[in-house]
Parts: sequence; structure tokens; C-alpha cells
Amino acid sequence: MGHIIAVAGKGGVGKTTLCGLLIQYLCETGKRPVLAVDADANANLNEVLGVEAGVTLGELREEIERAGVDPKYQIPAGITKAVYLESRMADALAEEADYDLMVMGRSQGQGCYCFVNGIVQTQIQKLQNHYPYIVVDNEAGMEHISRGILPTMEIAILVSDCSRRGVQAAGRIADLMKELNLKPKKTGLIVNRAPNGTLDEGTLEEIRKQKLDLLGVVPQDETVYQFDCEGKPMIQLPKDSPVREALKNIIEKMEI
Ligand SMILES: Nc1ncnc2c1ncn2[C@@H]1O[C@H](COP(=O)(O)OP(=O)(O)O)[C@@H](O)[C@H]1O
Ligand SMILES: [Mg+2]
Repeated sequence: MGHIIAVAGKGGVGKTTLCGLLIQYLCETGKRPVLAVDADANANLNEVLGVEAGVTLGELREEIERAGVDPKYQIPAGITKAVYLESRMADALAEEADYDLMVMGRSQGQGCYCFVNGIVQTQIQKLQNHYPYIVVDNEAGMEHISRGILPTMEIAILVSDCSRRGVQAAGRIADLMKELNLKPKKTGLIVNRAPNGTLDEGTLEEIRKQKLDLLGVVPQDETVYQFDCEGKPMIQLPKDSPVREALKNIIEKMEI
């Protein structure tokens, strides 16, 4: 069974950036193939990885909902929606050399969120045997966790910036996981975008208050900002970039 690593935290703290670099690290250290899951409705993990996503699960849901109503969407005659969905699942998995990417994406309409969440959950369970590692980039809210999207996650990486609010958000997610009786083998916090890679006493105090296990600190890096502005995938960051180095040290220490 593949190890499920979920990354969660407040919006804009660097979850997707770190997810992409984590996937890259796992691939480079031979822990492939990785199943990368972009479970954020506002999908952008593919940009960090510099690849095209396949059809999103949200789009598939749309196709099925509109079939028969909108001529643009057709399900072949004699096939049930469920069978059709199953047959399209391969298209929802973008295959790269070392990893496959599945994107949840957005879809409109009532009940779709639950539906798409449900597919993500079933697919992860189905695919878990085929990948030694599954990395799930979550959206800012705690929706996925509260809906139990990841019942079998093994490692929960909470990400925060240096703000107390970021650390508090991480603390709330950790609490929620406990309430829901989710028991990852390891739950820890990465503080990202720390000026000079060091933490302020205030941030440290909040981490203690939230009883979070600090896995490590990733520095604020101008190159990341530049890559972002230029639309360059983060996995092209130089190997000795401070962000990549910091993350590597953290992962090595975690013995993932
Ligand atoms: N260590 C870092 N140094 C500088 N900028 C960063 C760093 N980590 C992330 N960023 C930038 O912060 C923004 C939010 O990052 P992102 O990974 O999209 O966050 P999230 O997925 O949590 O919303 C992006 O513009 C990203 O390039
Ligand atoms: Mg993100």
C-alpha cells in the first residue's frame, strides 16, 4: 500500500510549492512512481510541476451531469453514467515519466463538491496499490479533512507562513484531524517563507501553544518569487536553491 502524504494549511502559505518540490524529491530519490493529487478546486500543482493536467474530475462530473441536456456532452448510448465515469478515469490521470497527476478541479452545481470529493477518495483507494507514494495537495479550507477524504493518510504535513494566524490555522487542522479520529502516523508543521530561514520568538511561541511538532523551516526565497512572476515551474529551481535544500533536509529527517 502506498504511503499517503497530505499537505494542508492556510491559503497562500506555500502548500502547492512545497508539494511540487516534495514530489520532485521523491521521484529523484527513486520513490517513484508518485501519484500526485491536486485536491484544490483552484488547481495549480501542474504549474509548479510544469506539466499539462488531464481532464479534471470536476470536468468529468460536468460532462456526466450535462449529458442528455447539452449536446456538447454525450455519453455513448447504452452506457450508464457510472460505467462512463470509470472509462474516463484514465484520461483524468496525466502520466509523466516519474509520476501521475490527478486533478480534482472545479465544477459547478449543487452537490458536486461531495461528488468530486467522493471520486478522489475512491480513486486514491483504488490506486493506492500502484504507487509507493501518494502526495495530496489540499485546498486552504479543511473541507477535505472534515469530509474524510483522506481516511488512510499516513503523514500530514501542515504548512504555515511565519504568521501566528497561519500557525493557528495549522493547529486547527491538527485538532480537527484528532476529532475525526484520523490518525496519521506523523503530523508535523513546516514553516515556510521565513525571512533568512529563522523563526521569530512569537512564531515559536504560537507553535508551542498549538502543540505542533515543528518539522523544519523553509526560507523566503527571491528566486521562487521570480520564477512565479515568470511563470516558470518551481521544479526547475536550481538544486542548491535554499528552498529545495531546506525541504530536502526536512524530508530526510522525517525518513519518509
Ligand atoms: N519559500 C518561498 N519563498 C518565496 N515565495 C514563496 C515561497 N513559497 C511559496 N512562495 C510563493 O507564495 C505564493 C503562494 O504559494 P502556493 O504554493 O501557491 O501557496 P498555497 O498552495 O498554500 O496557496 C506563490 O506565489 C509562491 O511562489
Ligand atoms: Mg495551493
